[in-house]
Amino acid sequence: MLNDLKQQPADALLALIKLHNTDPRADKIDLGVGVYRTGQGDTPVFGAIKAAEAKLVAEQDSKAYLGPEGDMGFVEKLMPYIFGKDSADMGGRIEGMQTPGGTGSLRLALAMVKRAGYRRVIVGKPSWPNHNQICADLGLEVFEFNHAAADGTTDMDALRAAIASAQEGDAILLHGCCHNPTGIDYTHTEWDEIAALLAQSTILPIIDLAYQGLGTGMEEDAYGLRRVLVAVPEALVSYSCDKNFGLYRDRVGALYAMVADPADLSKVMSNGHALARANWSQPPDHGAAAVRLVLEDAELTAQWLDELDQMRDRMRQVRAKLAAAGKTGGVDLTPVGGQNGLFSIVPFTPEQVQAMRTKHGIYFAASGRINVAGLTMANIDQFVAAVADVTA
Ligand code: LMR
Repeated sequence: MLNDLKQQPADALLALIKLHNTDPRADKIDLGVGVYRTGQGDTPVFGAIKAAEAKLVAEQDSKAYLGPEGDMGFVEKLMPYIFGKDSADMGGRIEGMQTPGGTGSLRLALAMVKRAGYRRVIVGKPSWPNHNQICADLGLEVFEFNHAAADGTTDMDALRAAIASAQEGDAILLHGCCHNPTGIDYTHTEWDEIAALLAQSTILPIIDLAYQGLGTGMEEDAYGLRRVLVAVPEALVSYSCDKNFGLYRDRVGALYAMVADPADLSKVMSNGHALARANWSQPPDHGAAAVRLVLEDAELTAQWLDELDQMRDRMRQVRAKLAAAGKTGGVDLTPVGGQNGLFSIVPFTPEQVQAMRTKHGIYFAASGRINVAGLTMANIDQFVAAVADVTA
């Protein structure tokens, strides 16, 4: 029986890590999987997290189970950052639970949606490949609309049409900020319109907020999510601390549900708890406990926010330098300057992606998605020259 299983391809994005690692060239560049890198090309542990971890090791007196909801102190401390200081639980309508990373949260959100009787998820195209993969695994149909228009802005007409054509039993999965893979986010005016359109529909919004603070700021990056949440009766929010606390492999995330009537909250969340139990039972503790300790301490919080600002500033500098290269070979790098977060798409053909790898040792996804944080002031000219070479 087991031998009847079909060979599955390795995840294309994760496979890039190995491909890059095994390339012997000293001047190779990794623009693949979404991790932040400093100007020296490292992905260090945040200083605030290091300090919190030291405190955790010194003070933690038990590793006994916490339950399927994980560390509720962590879950609650994050809420003012996500939902706003003044409306952190929307009058008792929001509750959360800890999950293994943003993926664990999305898995629970989509499984909950399926349990609730939703059949289809409206997803912008392109999206993070794991979105569609999780939907497929759960037997949820995906209805795609075009996310980005030819001029490098969002394709609002496509989104309007998708919302207008929605049926009863549809959910919509929206990237809260730092769109992965395009870096093209909705403007505030567009979010205002999206919130109004969703308010008039029966569509359940699921907001994926995996990069808060890496776009334009912690508050600014939550604008769209908050606009949608004040407009609609119910929503789910998938949150990741992997990037904004640099905790990638520790898998730190949270799922929040907002309901219309606070009396329904415990029933809704009990489904999240039951699904967690059936999947991983209880989330891993360490990273979430470290985040909680950061957020419980004013000095560590200030240090964390400062480190986050530095990351964002560096990515802005890289984006500005790429944009300044302008028309490079057959592509225009100008739009990268106005995009947000770790990612942008450069319109390479599949052959050009391959040539960037084989000829220049520069690795990124087949979609042309580059992780701008993989570029430094030391290697950016090399990247631009390679782009000019393969696209000429
Ligand atoms: C990415 O898109 O590179 C990140 O979200 C990491 C991942 O798990 O794919």
